[in-house]
Amino acid sequence: MGRLIVVSNRVPTENPSGGLVVALHDVLMQRGGLWIGADPQICEEGRDRLHDMSDTNPDPAYRKLVFRLNAQERRNYYEGFANSVLWPVCHRRTDLVEMRSEYRADYLAVNMRLARLIARELGPDDQLWVHDYHFLPLASMLRSLGVRNRIGFFLHIPFPNITDLSVLPSPENFAEWLSDFNLVGLQTRGDTARCLEMFRADRRAEFMRDGTIKFDDHVLTLGSFPIGIDVQGVNEAARRGRSDRFGPVAPQDRIIGADRLDYSKGLPQKFRAFGRYLDQRPQIERRPTFTQIAAPSRGEVSAYKQITRELAQISGEVNGAYSELDWTPLRLIHRSVPREDVLGLCRQARVGLVTPLADGMNLVAKEFIAAQNPQDPGVLILSRFAGAAEDMTEAVQVNPHDVDEIAEAISYALAMPHGERLRRYEACAQVVWSTQISTWAERCLTRLAQCTPTLRSHISNHRIAV
Ligand code: G6P
Repeated sequence: MGRLIVVSNRVPTENPSGGLVVALHDVLMQRGGLWIGADPQICEEGRDRLHDMSDTNPDPAYRKLVFRLNAQERRNYYEGFANSVLWPVCHRRTDLVEMRSEYRADYLAVNMRLARLIARELGPDDQLWVHDYHFLPLASMLRSLGVRNRIGFFLHIPFPNITDLSVLPSPENFAEWLSDFNLVGLQTRGDTARCLEMFRADRRAEFMRDGTIKFDDHVLTLGSFPIGIDVQGVNEAARRGRSDRFGPVAPQDRIIGADRLDYSKGLPQKFRAFGRYLDQRPQIERRPTFTQIAAPSRGEVSAYKQITRELAQISGEVNGAYSELDWTPLRLIHRSVPREDVLGLCRQARVGLVTPLADGMNLVAKEFIAAQNPQDPGVLILSRFAGAAEDMTEAVQVNPHDVDEIAEAISYALAMPHGERLRRYEACAQVVWSTQISTWAERCLTRLAQCTPTLRSHISNHRIAV
């Protein structure tokens, strides 16, 4: 039996932490294998080979290899095409797309170089599992080099709708690239429906009776595999988290938000909604405190610089209007906070505010539930546009664009009686347990192993779709 080879742009550098990294780490710890990703350090030298970083691994159960990027590649492949073109297209923000030909050229060049490096590493029975939008063309490039191994793909972010896709330089590439994988895994049923719509609009796609898609002779399996978390591990970490983190705020007045600082997370709307709530709160003597952790992210990209300024401004306005000498209602922490402390804060909070404008799944929503004390749980307010909302129907769901609706939900959640809190928590917890991370990985990899294999004839005339 061959090895499992995981490819993701980010690789864990110290002790693994964070949803996906922990998940993939657990899978590789159990099965052994290889993890390939980008070296976080920019480096001009040694880009023609993979570098072993296994010595930074806490455990030698699997090997870790990195490919290097120089400054131009980081700018054009990572900040450029991945995060200034594909990210906004997939998150329904085509207004933020920055179209530059060098972005696409270097995105393709980096993927091609990586394909060559991986092809050299591959044994005949190895399985590849590729993660996220940084590597959409990777299977096509591997096929053009004659690679027939099973290759799975998982998209962690929303699948774009067909109108937004048409903003891409050569939108037809999207279907071509995906069709060279054996399995394409998406987060939700909604994502799968949008992906099917894209294939239906392409005359080269043929829908087979067994549910697979034949595209230019290659057979692709498509499915939704909602990602989850290590529920037990999160609960234990939350219980270890310090209990004095909110300061002198009464337990029933604690509200928490924790997001990467990203325009897709709906932070300005959430801040305005909290201001609106304060404006209209039923009892003026009530003093809730909303703590928002906003971990900095992709700070070199202009849309991220802009959102950082906007948030500082709105939080200043809200605090200016409502603070009192002994009360600061909105605390914005523009820094990453140790995971255990965030989970501890979630456990102590009466309300978790998770209101992205678009999100593949949103693991914070699942972590908030897993962190709770089952006897006295907090209330999750969840955007209808987070993938998690598809199954977590008993969260208090809101339209994240509607500031009044979020303000009303805050008021409702803060006043929610114990019985209703318990009922909603138990329904959400059931969803969180049923999608937990070990089950997710098992489902994806079992399906990959069952996929129609790639035959020599499928790729003998393969042209790289660029
Ligand atoms: C999202 C993406 C991941 C990415 C993460 C952090 O969750 O799906 O692929 O790694 O954001 O973004 P960054 O650009 O810092 O790796």
